[in-house]
Amino acid sequence: MDKPVALEKLVSLCKRRGFIFQSSEIYGGYDSCWDFGPLGVELKINVKRAWWRSMVQCRDDIVGLDTSIIMAPDVWRASGHVEKFTDPLVECTACHHLFRGDELTPQGTCSICGGEVGPSRQFNLMFKTFVGPVENAAAVVYLRPETAQGIFVNFLNVQRSTNRRLPIGIAQIGKSFRNEISPGNFLFRSREFEQMECEYFVHPEAATAAYSQWKSARYEWYTGLGVPTEHLRLREHASCELAHYSRETTAIEFFYPWGWGELEGVAYRGNFDLMQHGHACGKDLSYVDDRTGERFLPHVIESAAGVDRSLLAFLFAAYDEEPDKDGIRTVLRLHKSLAPVKVAVLPLSKKEQLCTLARDLAARLRPHFATAYDETASIGKRYRRQDEIGTPYCVTVDFDTLSDDAVTVRDRDTMAQIRVPSGDLVHYLVGLLT
Ligand code: GAP
Repeated sequence: MDKPVALEKLVSLCKRRGFIFQSSEIYGGYDSCWDFGPLGVELKINVKRAWWRSMVQCRDDIVGLDTSIIMAPDVWRASGHVEKFTDPLVECTACHHLFRGDELTPQGTCSICGGEVGPSRQFNLMFKTFVGPVENAAAVVYLRPETAQGIFVNFLNVQRSTNRRLPIGIAQIGKSFRNEISPGNFLFRSREFEQMECEYFVHPEAATAAYSQWKSARYEWYTGLGVPTEHLRLREHASCELAHYSRETTAIEFFYPWGWGELEGVAYRGNFDLMQHGHACGKDLSYVDDRTGERFLPHVIESAAGVDRSLLAFLFAAYDEEPDKDGIRTVLRLHKSLAPVKVAVLPLSKKEQLCTLARDLAARLRPHFATAYDETASIGKRYRRQDEIGTPYCVTVDFDTLSDDAVTVRDRDTMAQIRVPSGDLVHYLVGLLT
């Protein structure tokens, strides 16, 4: 297996080229929060769009939803998060560093100074705040730690308003918040992040088959977007690792520079959530099969992916360096659908005639593809710049264009160049990019 690029190299590229910045950087940076720059926000939108297309738009058994971040606190009591969404917290008696229970040395001592650690206590990961002007216990609310609960509490609303029969999936993308004890590894573990979750409601007898289908479907989503299979694995959770709601969970893991880490969890949640909410709100949340009259609580297969972790994995998988005549060519071999810029139009020289033609051409491409225009520096440097941000195609307008009205299209990965009549360019690029 190829060794992934060092984290520092990727962080540096992300900052230099405007993918990702440290939050509040001018104040020294705010730990574990990140801002997405002009290219990062495009990449993020493309990751979410790819997920939404494959999960919602290309299927007729899944619909979308967008629920609020702040929900009734009863939701989090019923879901078990108030009581059980915790990590063990320990403090070193010597250096007073706080750790998650799984971060100690194998001998159970402090991994910074080797000191003895104090007793472990359960630390709840939900962020608490208050609604309204009075800060008392009755005004406490939580920032959601997962988007899933917004889906469960709306199950009947969605099922009835869409008049659907099982199986029915409900998908949502949105921010989640966790007061992680030890955030780190860039975007991998932060306190504010985005999730892409789908709760797939099935008849209990169909759950085992659906669980197995979802594991494959979600694995294939990553490979289809260019993550090599040797950097991806499915790992079944041991019973001691299972979350309080889960009967079975399989993690889809990526090989990050620091080792294997979870990208997504596929969990068989049984009817835990509908049962809990039904009891807590005093309403019957069961589904009635209109053909048989059977009434039951559906079982749920959840796929819970992180936008930020996926984006990071796509960047790691895409990063490549190869020797060239000027030293090293850095290329982000991003899948074309994820690349923030699809086409860059480059006039060969700064001659006004070429620049005007190239600007006009870029304006013609823009309604079809995310298009950049660059007239600064040498053509070689401009190709390198586009390679480094993963632009699949560069289109060069040169002096021959003035007479033959054709342009050169250069491929990021092969660096092959081909001459295309400028009138055919949109059609030609549509063929390559879709
Ligand atoms: N609804 C189930 C659920 O939330 P999870 O395994 O806790 O399951 C799902 O989270 C995904 O959300 C993870 O696989 C990961 O991609 C992402 N995620 C969780 N915590 C995160 C954090 N602190 N920072 C970034 N992403 C996180």
